[in-house]
Amino acid sequence: MKYMNLYRGYEKRKEAINKKISSVIERSQFIFGEELDALEKELSDYTGVKYAVGVSSGHVGLVLSLLALGFDAGEDHSEKEIIVPAMTFFSTAEAPAFLGMKVKVCDIDKYFNMDIKKLESLINKNTAAIIPVNLFGQCADYNAILDIAEKNNIFVIEDACQSFGASYNNIKSCSGKLGDIAVTSFFPAKPLGCFGDGGMVFTNNEKLYNNLKQLRHHGDEGGMIHVKLGTTGRLDNMQAGILLEKFKGFDDDMEHRRKAAEYYSEQLKDIVKTPEIAEYNTSVYAQYVIQVENNRDEIRNKLNELGVPTALYYPHPIHLAPALSKLGYKEGDMPVSEYASKHNIALPIDNDILREEQDIVIEALRNVLKKQ
Ligand SMILES: Cc1ncc(COP(=O)(O)O)c(C=O)c1O
Repeated sequence: MKYMNLYRGYEKRKEAINKKISSVIERSQFIFGEELDALEKELSDYTGVKYAVGVSSGHVGLVLSLLALGFDAGEDHSEKEIIVPAMTFFSTAEAPAFLGMKVKVCDIDKYFNMDIKKLESLINKNTAAIIPVNLFGQCADYNAILDIAEKNNIFVIEDACQSFGASYNNIKSCSGKLGDIAVTSFFPAKPLGCFGDGGMVFTNNEKLYNNLKQLRHHGDEGGMIHVKLGTTGRLDNMQAGILLEKFKGFDDDMEHRRKAAEYYSEQLKDIVKTPEIAEYNTSVYAQYVIQVENNRDEIRNKLNELGVPTALYYPHPIHLAPALSKLGYKEGDMPVSEYASKHNIALPIDNDILREEQDIVIEALRNVLKKQ
């Protein structure tokens, strides 16, 4: 068994995907073109957002979003503060830090998302933006976040790299309603994954849309007149074509994933802490993460010996990342995130996981925990 078997996502649409790849190659239309346009239209129709901009990765999408909001590359932003959760992929904090902004870290709640009770105390006159993350496929608590942001006149970037397809109070992630800009990732392991790197940025704001379109193409306003400092940030046409084919089965894939997660929870809730989904959320379970009280690493080793691979999301919280040491955080500053980093275990899940595979995982976990 693999932690994630991504081949099955290709296998079940092999003919259509191969055809699409060949078509892009035959036409040799690799950068910009009909597949990218069609994907942007499909995904904006799906989420109900006005504008979608395909980008080269989720991380680049986050950097481009900050640039589009006016935090220009090459300028001094050292006074500007950006709030991110302590439990996320490094990229969420890396993007603002890369632009020279000051990262402020917020601890998480029982859903593994930014703890809104701790957010308000982090805001001051230098706060420029909040980047809430929809971790493991469920949204943060946006009513509270958007209220705080509005009151203090600060931007919100929805880090939806793990949550395309999820919803918050019936509002879709990436609809542009959960912040000024939303960013998702098509990294292969994501619920909607491509065959390389890719991402998309969503907004309802026309000015931000125009900025994003220029910035993903070296700030070119057309005719190689470079009006901003941007980057090589486009989603390529081949990945867009693959995503168009995969997206046809997306709702079914997410239904399968949700059912698989619910099955795990039903079967495991008496022996471990299973994921809690807030009543206002539907999750796409980008990861299925349980918590064990003791001996996490030993449990993982034993599961591995029984043929059950697992993963860690995330073994080191953001505030303890060596690259951010100058922020001055120390162990103990974010107790909930630190606990999660030491006690979380992600179990195998993907869009096509079989019930038989899940039963192997469940039985192995029961056996290992019985012997603890
Ligand atoms: C929460 C979060 N933010 C940002 C990213 C960056 O996305 P990408 O890997 O496409 O650059 C990821 C991807 O793993 C992520 O999970």
